[in-house]
Order: sequence, then C-alpha cells, then structure tokens
Amino acid sequence: MPVLSEPSVLISADQIRSRVATMATEIERDHPGDDPIHLICVLKGGFVFLADLVRAMGDRVTMDFIAVSSYGKGTRSSGEVRLLKDLDAGLAGRDVVIVEDIVDTGLTLTYLQDILRARAPRSLRTACLLSKPSRRTVSVHVDYVGFEIPDRFVIGYGLDYDERYRNLPYIGVLDGGE
Ligand code: IMP
Ligand code: MG
Repeated sequence: MPVLSEPSVLISADQIRSRVATMATEIERDHPGDDPIHLICVLKGGFVFLADLVRAMGDRVTMDFIAVSSYGKGTRSSGEVRLLKDLDAGLAGRDVVIVEDIVDTGLTLTYLQDILRARAPRSLRTACLLSKPSRRTVSVHVDYVGFEIPDRFVIGYGLDYDERYRNLPYIGVLDGGE
C-alpha cells in the first residue's frame, strides 16, 4: 500500500449539502402530482448522494439499487460496462431518476439509460453529483448536475480510490493520484 497524502478539499461538505438540497427541489418540481418518484442508486459510488438526496425529499420517494462495473483498481476506465446487480423491481409506467456519483466518459450512464429505458418507465431522468465534461467520449443527457469539475481524479462522498475514501464527507483530490 503506497503512502498517500491527505486529500485536499475540492468541494466542501457545506457546498455539497446546499447543492443537494437544491437538486432535491428541482427533481420534485419536475415531477408534479402525487405519484412516487423512483430513484435508482448506482452502486457503489452513488450511495452517499442517494442517502442525502432522499432525506431532502418528501414522502413520494421510493428507491432501488443497481450495480455496474466501472473502474477496477486505479483511475482509468476499461471502457467496458457490466451489470453486477440488477434492480429488485420493474420500472414499467414509473417515474424514474438514475442517481449516479459522477459522469466521466459517459459510457456507464449511456449503458444504464439504455437498459433502463428498455423497461418502459413513464419517465427517465438522470441526476449526477459531479460531471467532468472534458472527459466525455460519448454524448449523454444528464438532467441534474451538482457540480462540473475539471479533469482531476476525485474521491469522497461515495467515490473511491481502490475502495478507499468513500466515507469522506467532502469531495477531495489526492495529490499523488492521476
Ligand atoms: P464513465 O463511464 O467513464 O462515465 O465513468 C463513470 C464511473 O467511473 C463513475 O460512476 C465512477 O464510479 C467512476 N469514476 C469516474 N471518475 C472518477 C473519479 O474521479 N473518481 C472516482 N471514480 C470515478
Ligand atoms: Mg459510479
């Protein structure tokens, strides 16, 4: 295990809290009526964002979890997406929002949007806490973006480096990282 320096803060816990509250309001505003808003958390990275987002929303929220492979060890995508854990329930006729930690190349989200759209939800939107626009290799539509960030490898608030740092309450960068 290499010795890694303390992460430096890119986006503070306070900044995240206030932005997530705004995103919760935007999602509810875009889903008028009383029907459930069904959030799909993309594991593992989306779990902290989901937990804060649902607690900023009212009682129409339901949720389910899906897991896809993204990066293995290290910081670069293989470009291949695999389904590791599927949803528990179907999506037909439901108002669905994908909740993802970050959109980088866009490959993971493109894959997810394609397979979930095929399950005939009434609506399908996407919320990402972070976006690295300069890294995009496929164009993908994201309805709610928390923060646009430069091409730095970030950790914390669900995001990992080799499975570490997911529990940091802020978004940080490792100076030793890519
Ligand atoms: P994409 O398919 O290239 O858009 O990659 C999306 C996935 O890669 C995300 O869901 C993350 O799990 C992971 N990822 C991309 N950038 C970072 C980063 O800077 N830190 C940690 N994980 C990242
Ligand atoms: Mg992810």
